[in-house]
Amino acid sequence: MTTALRFVLAGAALVLVVGCRQDMHDQPRYKPLAASAFFRDGQSARPLIADTVARGHLDEDVELYTGKTAGGKLVDVFPIPVDADVLKRGRARFEIYCSPCHDRTGSGHGMVVRRGFKAPPSYHVDRLRQAPVGHFFDVMTNGFGAMPDYRSQVPVADRWAIVAYIRALQRSQQGTLADVPPPEAAKLKAGG
Ligand code: HEC
Repeated sequence: MTTALRFVLAGAALVLVVGCRQDMHDQPRYKPLAASAFFRDGQSARPLIADTVARGHLDEDVELYTGKTAGGKLVDVFPIPVDADVLKRGRARFEIYCSPCHDRTGSGHGMVVRRGFKAPPSYHVDRLRQAPVGHFFDVMTNGFGAMPDYRSQVPVADRWAIVAYIRALQRSQQGTLADVPPPEAAKLKAGG
């Protein structure tokens, strides 16, 4: 056999070997949601085993994830630190997700409401001013009456940021002269 022939044969053998790879290309498998005669419930898609936790979703901080204590009481203390950045983020998310109905001041006259959707209560009524922060988180997480939930659109940290911003909106309607820094207050008093 000439060297050239050997080379050709080796090449052909290599092609054959590679061509016959069968590993994961061709394994028995189901198409998504196909029926199965193997499992008793006839479904190939298997339910999660009880207590399965997806990576990164242990979610064991009950107050953070539900707005309630382990005993089911609404929390009245933010489970996240609130600073100017959180308020900024809350404002942005609020104006995207909530203002279409609640309007940008939270008085409940958003565009969707002006077009006929049920009017929400103003955030500035005493009941909601006094409601614990957990209530707002819970309303976003689970919906409330005619209002759909925002659990899947708005992640947990953003929901808390929105609550913080709602608190700022509520505060904004309650300002008195005592809240104004002295130099500015003096200007106001002078009618400036
Ligand atoms: C599609 C319109 C719509 C959007 C968008 C919307 N809401 Fe509402 N919301 C409502 C309506 C309507 C109600 C009153 C529901 C009822 O009483 O049936 C309500 C009620 C509420 C209440 C008062 C619950 C109470 O105790 O009376 C809060 C708080 C609230 N919404 C927060 C939010 C937040 C935060 C967002 C944004 C993440 C949001 N909503 C987005 C329509 C909306």
